[in-house]
Amino acid sequence: MTYDGPVIRLEHVSKAFGALRVLDDVSIAIPRGEATVVLGRSGTGKSVMLKHVVGLLQPDAGRVFVEGEEITALTGSALADVRRHIGFLFQNAALFDSITVGDNVGFPLRRHTELPEAEIRTRVREKLSQVGLEHALDKMPAELSGGMKKRAGLARAMALDPSILLVDEPSAGLDPITSEEIDDLLVSVKRNLGTTLIVVTHNIPSARRIGDTLVFLHEGRVLVQGSVVELEASEHALVTRFMHSEAGG
Ligand SMILES: Nc1ncnc2c1ncn2[C@@H]1O[C@H](COP(=O)(O)OP(=O)(O)OP(=O)(O)O)[C@@H](O)[C@H]1O
Ligand SMILES: [Mg+2]
Repeated sequence: MTYDGPVIRLEHVSKAFGALRVLDDVSIAIPRGEATVVLGRSGTGKSVMLKHVVGLLQPDAGRVFVEGEEITALTGSALADVRRHIGFLFQNAALFDSITVGDNVGFPLRRHTELPEAEIRTRVREKLSQVGLEHALDKMPAELSGGMKKRAGLARAMALDPSILLVDEPSAGLDPITSEEIDDLLVSVKRNLGTTLIVVTHNIPSARRIGDTLVFLHEGRVLVQGSVVELEASEHALVTRFMHSEAGG
């Protein structure tokens, strides 16, 4: 039995921290094999939304589905099984400080697969080279620049060739050229492996390059959702201002 509905669905999700209402009745459907870019001002709930998709946060109200399965109802090994298909690079994703970059990328492979050691090493090299870090294989995380750490985190997130890849601010701290290379990588992962992407970014050039659909969050709600062209023509001044800004972040 195969499920061919939206890969991820948020249904009327609300989340507050104390008196702060962060997500306010958010409903989104993420189509399979496409890249959905999430935009919005700082503090508007983008990262919080992503954390609901992997069950790191539980909604106060509403439900979250991954591949048709309600993950808000899952715990323990059932939740872990769903998470195995999701690669994620969180905004401040830290590498494990005490092991090499190569071992960081190999970590999910050693933990979740029975692949022979030689095969794991080949895969680690391949993932590191995709993010332009093959030379950093034996380095310790402390020896990397901020942007290199980000790329190593992306290599780790992609290690298991997840069918869903969530990336929170891939270009933060990257120069424009590296940022463009990361965008190209994400697009090629989507094209070649059919990976469903959700990318949070403040970088509008990046959003244009990657996004099949853009979701604009504002004050805990989906203000608009649509293509680049649709958002550019939005009636909301905030959205059009965002779309015409060239500032990266
Ligand atoms: N675990 C938490 N406990 C309490 N408040 C939280 C927690 N996580 C997030 N928040 C609050 O929720 C709001 C939304 O945070 P979130 O990280 O989702 O913003 P964001 O849209 O990702 O912003 P940015 O663009 O700056 O990354 C913020 O006000 C933040 O302080
Ligand atoms: Mg964030």
